[in-house]
Formats: sequence, structure tokens, C-alpha cells
Amino acid sequence: MAAPADSAVAAPKIPRHVAIIMDGNGRWAQGRGLSRTEGHRRGMEAVRAAVEASREFGVGYLTLFSFSSENWARPPLEVQFLFGLLRLFIQRDLADLHRNNVRVRVIGNRIALAADIRSLLDQAETLTAANTGLCLVIAFNYGAREEIARAVRSLAQDVAAGRIKAEAIDEAALASRLDTAFMPDPDLVIRTSGEMRLSNFLLWQAAYSELLFMPLYWPDFDRAAFVEALEQYAQRARRFGGLAARRGA
Ligand code: FPP
Repeated sequence: MAAPADSAVAAPKIPRHVAIIMDGNGRWAQGRGLSRTEGHRRGMEAVRAAVEASREFGVGYLTLFSFSSENWARPPLEVQFLFGLLRLFIQRDLADLHRNNVRVRVIGNRIALAADIRSLLDQAETLTAANTGLCLVIAFNYGAREEIARAVRSLAQDVAAGRIKAEAIDEAALASRLDTAFMPDPDLVIRTSGEMRLSNFLLWQAAYSELLFMPLYWPDFDRAAFVEALEQYAQRARRFGGLAARRGA
């Protein structure tokens, strides 16, 4: 697809990895006198727009926080609906994603998920494994603290079994046991709805990410919002704790 005219989103400043906390489906719906589930349904359309825009602008990885390990506390019917949406998304969109060379990966704790969902997620990953375009990462039943605890447990098991020495545990060793080991850390983390917190999303990986809190509800997130986020990112000076400012690098 053709690059946009917008000057601030010229190729060198495009983030390699964008991660999004898709917040505000419920409030979007309530404000229109609709059910929360309608908000989630519209949220799925915004997911499609975000995937399209990521492909258009050459973002390498798009991670979407689709269901957090804390979302189980919602009413059972809403939880069921969110699971249904994931099923629907994979059943309806997988063929298109594959045709568009999108690689699908899933992060989060799969053990607690129903067998049919696990097998759909496996199917999506297997079908698209060799694709070389956008990597769409679905964070489902994901919680960063749980992910870190799982990684630490796996290292501890290796130490206890004598496979590795405790002294060998450094940042790289821990990062290699996280669900996200296959991808770079996010350059840009976006949260919609105006809330300004990370809510247990990519806590390790977002150490040096640029954070962007956008004052719109997720169902309203469209191509223009994506461009706005890229423009904001391009204006940030990333220093990674050092002194030399590298604009949007
Ligand atoms: C937060 O809005 C959104 C969620 C908990 C679910 C996100 C799910 C989707 C966008 C659709 C499904 C996506 C895929 C990839 C299948 P909220 O309900 O917390 O909104 P509120 O804070 O206004 O109540």
C-alpha cells in the first residue's frame, strides 16, 4: 500500500513493535445506550482497522491486549462473550490474515483455557508460522506478573535439576523464558480511553517503551487514530537511560 502523505510518519520513525491496551469498549457502548457486548463487538472492528494500519505503515509487530488474567472477575456472560469473540475472530479472519502474510502468535497462560480455544489458537499459529509480514500478537489470558512468575519458576526448575547455574541467570536469561521471547520489546505502548496505567500488561518488556494515552474509546480507534499515534511517537526522543537523544529511534 502507498505510504501516506503525513510527513511525521516517514519510514525511519515507524515503531517496530506497537502494543495496545484496547480500553473503553464498555463506556463507548454505555454512552450510546448500547450493551457492553455491543461495545466489544465494535472493538473487534477496531482490531481489524489496527491490523490494516499496521500493515500499511510497515509496523513489524502489533500486540493486542485482548483478555487479561484479571478479566475473569467480570460477569460470566461477558467473559463468555469475549471468548466467543476470539473464536469468531479466528474463524472469520484467519484466512484473510494468512492471505495477507500475517503471522499470528498468542501470549498468555493457555493452560486455563478451554480445549477448543487452545486448539483454535494452535491452529492460527501453525497455519501462519511461515508468514513474513506483520506479526499479530494476541495477548489472551495474559498477565505480566503471572508471565514473569512462570519464567522464574522455569529457571528455578532448571537450577534445581542442575541444568543451569544460578549465576547464569541474568536479564537475557529471564527474557528468554517470557512468552514474548520471540519478539523485540514494544517501542510504543498505546492505551485508549484516557486511563493512564499499564494494568499488568508487558511490565518487563515496556521498561523503555514510549507510552501514549489516547482520549478515545477503543471502538473509535481507526486509521486516523493510528496515524496520530505514529506522529506522536515520531516526536519522542528516546534515550534508553543515556544522554544522546535519538528521535523516534
Ligand atoms: C476493554 O474495554 C476491552 C476488553 C476487556 C476486551 C478487548 C476485546 C476486544 C477489543 C475485541 C476482541 C478482540 C480480539 C482480538 C478477538 P472495557 O470493557 O474494559 O471497557 P470499559 O473500561 O469502558 O468498561
